Amino acid sequence: FNSEQVQSLVLHTLDSLPSSSTLDSRELVLKLEDGSEVKFNEGDNQVLLKGVLDSLLSREMVQFQIINTSTSVLTAEGVEIATNGSHEARVWAALPLKGQGEPMTVPDLQKALGPDTTKIGQGKAFKNKWISKEGAGFVKAVESIDDVARSQLEVIRQTETHPEGEKLLAELRKRKLITARKHTRYDITRGSNFATTVQKLETDLTTEMLTSGAWKQAQFKKYNMAALGDPTDGGALHPLLKVREEFRQIFFDMGFTEMPTNKFVESAFWNFDAMFVPQQHPAREMQDTFYVKDPVGAGEPPADYYERVRKVHETGGYGSIGYRAPFSDEESRKLLLRTHTTAVSTDMLYRIANQEGGFKPCKLFSIDRVFRNEATDATHLAEFHQVEGVVADYDINLGHLIAMMETFFKKTGNNKLRFKPAYNPYTEPSMEIFSYHEGLKRWIEVGNSGMFRPEMLEPMGLPKGVRVLGWGMSLERPTMIKYGINDIRTLVGHKVDVAQVRTAAAIRFDKGDA
Ligand code: PHE
Repeated sequence: FNSEQVQSLVLHTLDSLPSSSTLDSRELVLKLEDGSEVKFNEGDNQVLLKGVLDSLLSREMVQFQIINTSTSVLTAEGVEIATNGSHEARVWAALPLKGQGEPMTVPDLQKALGPDTTKIGQGKAFKNKWISKEGAGFVKAVESIDDVARSQLEVIRQTETHPEGEKLLAELRKRKLITARKHTRYDITRGSNFATTVQKLETDLTTEMLTSGAWKQAQFKKYNMAALGDPTDGGALHPLLKVREEFRQIFFDMGFTEMPTNKFVESAFWNFDAMFVPQQHPAREMQDTFYVKDPVGAGEPPADYYERVRKVHETGGYGSIGYRAPFSDEESRKLLLRTHTTAVSTDMLYRIANQEGGFKPCKLFSIDRVFRNEATDATHLAEFHQVEGVVADYDINLGHLIAMMETFFKKTGNNKLRFKPAYNPYTEPSMEIFSYHEGLKRWIEVGNSGMFRPEMLEPMGLPKGVRVLGWGMSLERPTMIKYGINDIRTLVGHKVDVAQVRTAAAIRFDKGDA
């Protein structure tokens, strides 16, 4: 059956009653073709009826009141007593009358009635003076008893209530013999537009209706001004992009220029050699770097610069003894997915050293993707983003690097920093950056930094006295902390939580007073 049938049932039943009378929804019975009868006092049927009543109410065809009531029903123990008698009655029934048989001992009763009935029933029957002691056992003390509990429960079983009223019902509920069952019903009366058929409501006033005059008879559907409307399916910025935007603003505030990072494939020359990373360095091995098979080699770097780089690796120079190991052209021309954005910084520094008009001090930053051939887990991905800042100027030193990072990290809400000596092939000194995490109550590593080596800078043709400082960090780590994401694999890739991406709020670093 469907809601139209239920609608017709309600209207016709109301129509059959005197016009001002109230229809109790429990009296609604729908007769189906197969002869079965449907009632509407509970479950899905009641939900359906409510829907029908709501729609009739909106057309003012009916009015209704929701009436909540409750009745009493027996618990399993209540059913047991209504069927077999109370524990005390069963103890009494099991015993012989005084002088007409062997008195029964407690073990005898337990065997006959079980331990629970014996325990509860014997005490109560004794208190009621239904039984008495005889030697080591018990006998009936009276010829007949009135098992009140049983007859009360029997009444409730049949009528779901008891004429004695609420006091008795409350007591039986307390004894867990009955529980309350909630019911909802509707008291339905005719509304001001009552009719037995429902006129279709118009949703549009059309030209035809106006010209034909049909609009006079038409009934219009009311506007629902409270309707929310369909959510519009727009795009959403990924959390990483939102955090990236925060970092970009910080760099811009500090007077940095953004580097062009729009190439993921680099040559080993720019990713490693130009940075004075030895060709035998473990990070260059297949386990750490994704190499590109096709094409097999990169174009030629500037010949004179390449020669200076080769020389500083093989025999040193600029005050360095170099690596004193053979330098392979083939190794240098390999193509790879860049393992750090510092490859881009290196390329930029070379260009700035050789730009028209010569070197000028600069502050550069980049935020983009890097690739490492690593196993993925909750905190590692094979591709992630680096945030990197680089400053080139005359006579800057480690103090400037520390001051620069303190300003930068303060703007990201990290006010307590510590630096720990570290090693990078291309910086000396190098420092790992730690920030005190107030939530975790410990120091966490937030980045890596250093002063670029003369072996890297001088072959580029940078003037003597120019020093370059730099620092780098991941974009994922602060994003996960800001959004409370524990598994990096839900941030990007096929396990990404799209709903979360759609609803993630914009974040703001709570900036220090820098
Ligand atoms: N390239 C470094 C890294 O991959 C970060 C860094 C950048 C270190 C600049 C020093 C200077 O972690």
